[in-house]
Amino acid sequence: MSSMSEKSRIPSRFISSLITVSVFLLVLSSVFLLQSGNTSFIPRSVFELMLVNGTSVYFEPHVKKEPFKLPFLSSEVPQVDAIKPLKRISESACQVSDSSKKVESVERKKMMICDSKQARLRVFMYELPPEFHFGLLGWKGMENQTWPQHIPPYPGGLNLQHSIEYWLTLDLLSSDNLNVVRPCTVVRVHNSSEADFIFVPFFSSLSYNRHSKLHEKEKVSVNKRLQDKLVQFLMGRNEWKRKGGKDHLIVAHHPNSMLDARKKLGSAMFVLADFGRYPAEIANLGKDIIAPYRHLVTTVPSSKSATFKERPILVYFRGAIYRKDGGVIRQELYHLLKDEKDVDFTFGSIGGNGVRKATQGMASSKFCLNIAGDTPSSNRLFDAIASHCVPVIISDEIELPFEDVLDYSQFCIFVRGADAVKKGYLLKLLRGINKDKWTKMWERLKEVVHHFEYQYPSLPDDAVDMIWQAVSRKISSLQFKYHRKKRYDRSQLV
Ligand SMILES: *[C@@H]1O[C@H](CO)[C@@H](O)[C@H](O)[C@H]1NC(C)=O
Ligand SMILES: *[C@@H]1O[C@H](CO)[C@@H](O)[C@H](O)[C@H]1NC(C)=O
Ligand SMILES: *[C@@H]1O[C@H](CO)[C@@H](O)[C@H](O)[C@H]1NC(C)=O
Repeated sequence: MSSMSEKSRIPSRFISSLITVSVFLLVLSSVFLLQSGNTSFIPRSVFELMLVNGTSVYFEPHVKKEPFKLPFLSSEVPQVDAIKPLKRISESACQVSDSSKKVESVERKKMMICDSKQARLRVFMYELPPEFHFGLLGWKGMENQTWPQHIPPYPGGLNLQHSIEYWLTLDLLSSDNLNVVRPCTVVRVHNSSEADFIFVPFFSSLSYNRHSKLHEKEKVSVNKRLQDKLVQFLMGRNEWKRKGGKDHLIVAHHPNSMLDARKKLGSAMFVLADFGRYPAEIANLGKDIIAPYRHLVTTVPSSKSATFKERPILVYFRGAIYRKDGGVIRQELYHLLKDEKDVDFTFGSIGGNGVRKATQGMASSKFCLNIAGDTPSSNRLFDAIASHCVPVIISDEIELPFEDVLDYSQFCIFVRGADAVKKGYLLKLLRGINKDKWTKMWERLKEVVHHFEYQYPSLPDDAVDMIWQAVSRKISSLQFKYHRKKRYDRSQLV
């Protein structure tokens, strides 16, 4: 008996040391892989799953490197991306974000686990079937599987401008993943009674962009069918009934998304591009959040940003000239500016080659016009910010993201529509802004640009985090009103 156990002890000791050694090797190799993430050590596809960021070409895996290159653009990533993945993972901390602090200082903060007590907000996310979210990206899971394990890419091109739904959902999904370091602004909870707000993971912009046309034999478009289904689903939920939907967050960034359901779901908080196509009782600043477009041009790294002297073009605009509604002003401006030597005012779509041209044009211009089109907002403003081209906003009805914490007058010029069309007004104004004044705005642009970057995993004070912070402020102000209203309500005493 004893010899038997003696015999079996040796191999087991051997096996356990073998396991120790191999675990050590595994850890070592994964650390090494992470460190060399930017080299071609791991197949690109694998790395992309681990690190999706605003400037990445993740969306076009077939394109080799950056789809286009400019003389002043290197492979260097913008400042905001400067935290190395390895550091972020090894720190395994979830930092409380604070809009006044810089990324670096947050990094130095002590290790903290982001749990539901530390987070500023707790969010419950509905387990909607995939047809509402990743199914729209062509993802098919196993039976009963709601969320993908590997993140399907969001379609590129113009779709990207409204991809906010995707970044927010990814961030919430990663809340449960201990390997992902993200700001501790919101944390996902799985019991809705513990939540401060409820997130509705419907990719409404993609649904509009991809599925609003009727296909053969269909009586109702997929986009409409999904919205009807969503309304039905929400109305049946106790979470919705509890506060009449007031604590629900619905992303409808494309101005035409949720067209069929917006009225019925109007009590919810919306994440929108602007209020242009909404009546005030359905969407307003009191309850809704304006989110930046995902810019289409490549972010200019701060260190490579052209200075005043290095930007030969005074004023840049590229876009469609004939728009419905508010767009008349574009034509008037065109006629005023078209003959100026240092003005680049062209009509053309930003799609396809347009993005490349815009990237180049904006990065070599001092001022970039943002003129009202058929909606008050457009991605052009965020393209200008990403290019550190001082935006000139000529759109009286525009609403700007995070304006309660950002003073846009520090890095944008606002011109009323009525003034802009006065002969000579605009050029006189812009030519009057000297190098020092312009440089001050340019410096400020480089400081704020990271607030407009969507990426996964999210970084402190990037666009995703800023949206969550805005939700937090909105919820506070809603609570405030709600509590005041309850002062003399004695129903709870009975
Ligand atoms: C962002 O994506 C680009 C392109 O995939 C990559 O080269 C870069 O390292 C990424 N940045 C970070 C911080 O992950
Ligand atoms: C999927 O869910 C249904 C209903 O809850 C259940 O009957 C079925 O067994 C599940 N299938 C799998 C593969 O888990
Ligand atoms: C959810 O939380 C509430 C309040 O904390 C609790 O009463 C309830 O039992 C919880 N539900 C589940 C399924 O854990």
